[in-house]
Amino acid sequence: MASLRSKLSVLLFLVVLTAHVTEAAVRSKLSGDESTCESKDATLNLRSSKRTSGAAGPEPGDPAAAFTVPTLDGEFTYKPGTLRGPLIIHAFTNKSGFLECLWSSEPSLTSLVQDLPDSTQVLFLSLDDSAASDALWMRDQVHRAAVQHSKKEVLSRLHFSALPAFALGNWIPSVFYNWGCVSHNCLLAQAVFTSQGWRLPIVIKRLDARYDWLMGHWTQSLYQLRDAGDGCDPSPSVAGAVAWVSEGGCSFFTKVQNMAKSNASGVLVYALPGNPIQDMNCVGDECITALGIPAAMVHLEVSVAQGLQSGQQVYVSFQNTPSPYYFFSIDQQGLLAEMGWFLYPSFSFLNWQAQW
Ligand SMILES: *[C@@H]1O[C@H](CO)[C@@H](O)[C@H](O)[C@H]1NC(C)=O
Ligand SMILES: *[C@@H]1O[C@H](CO)[C@@H](O)[C@H](O)[C@H]1NC(C)=O
Repeated sequence: MASLRSKLSVLLFLVVLTAHVTEAAVRSKLSGDESTCESKDATLNLRSSKRTSGAAGPEPGDPAAAFTVPTLDGEFTYKPGTLRGPLIIHAFTNKSGFLECLWSSEPSLTSLVQDLPDSTQVLFLSLDDSAASDALWMRDQVHRAAVQHSKKEVLSRLHFSALPAFALGNWIPSVFYNWGCVSHNCLLAQAVFTSQGWRLPIVIKRLDARYDWLMGHWTQSLYQLRDAGDGCDPSPSVAGAVAWVSEGGCSFFTKVQNMAKSNASGVLVYALPGNPIQDMNCVGDECITALGIPAAMVHLEVSVAQGLQSGQQVYVSFQNTPSPYYFFSIDQQGLLAEMGWFLYPSFSFLNWQAQW
């Protein structure tokens, strides 16, 4: 029975895989067609002469065309020649653990409200169907930080689109979808859980711990996952496996150190229900103690927790899926510019880049 089931799940996996491959092939055909269609339309004047073939849309260095976007606080209109400083355009998606943390972390939000250069404006969008609630949430996050730091004046320079990027009907989405993003932080970092008896893998977002104290990197392997409570004490059962530990009780560093001592291959720290994914950080002396295993933060996934509790074998692997671009800007001269990527989830990098 078990072997039949595993054969069935392999079969199912192959079917799913084939479906994806076909879809991808169709999509790449479609996007080829799309560029021929688009070359006939009015966005032609935006296209840079540098572009020879392939995807449509403006390139870095091209002049940005005028646009209007409905926002939570009325219409936002960009007209060439009217900027006092850069206009940064950011697309949010909650499919990214990095962006979730960027928008949840207090130091990150504080930096946005305190240090955004005076002449800089930011237009915030969402890539997803949940754009309306995403926009309200983003505005609430900055409102709270602005009130707390008596920086309410910054709010007049922050604009929150009420429509998702795919519904804008202008050139902005083509930049998010077509500008290649090379840095690892703009891939969607994910953890993939499998177990016998599950019809499909469970794929969730993760945010890798980033500091020098973590020397390890996830490899292509399939790891066994083992529960190690809150990870505040060593746990011999995790040897050779990835440890599944809850947040809280002790520092992230202590958890990873305990799991490393227990010979774990890596650590997944899950957020307690309702809490955001955090940037797993070190404090003081911790930062000069190197630990040899990788670690990442994820949300609590109920099926995974239940599987482990009931003694089921659960496996985890790690993957990175390409995602749209998240940030670009229109400089004071009205030209489109790429933004370098953020080293870790903090708006301080946005402020820094807005100065150039
Ligand atoms: C983002 O996703 C997490 C879980 O995946 C959820 O807890 C959180 O509420 C979401 N945030 C927004 C703004 O939708
Ligand atoms: C970890 O591995 C080392 C070296 O193989 C071994 O000596 C030690 O007993 C192991 N510790 C645990 C907790 O499994």
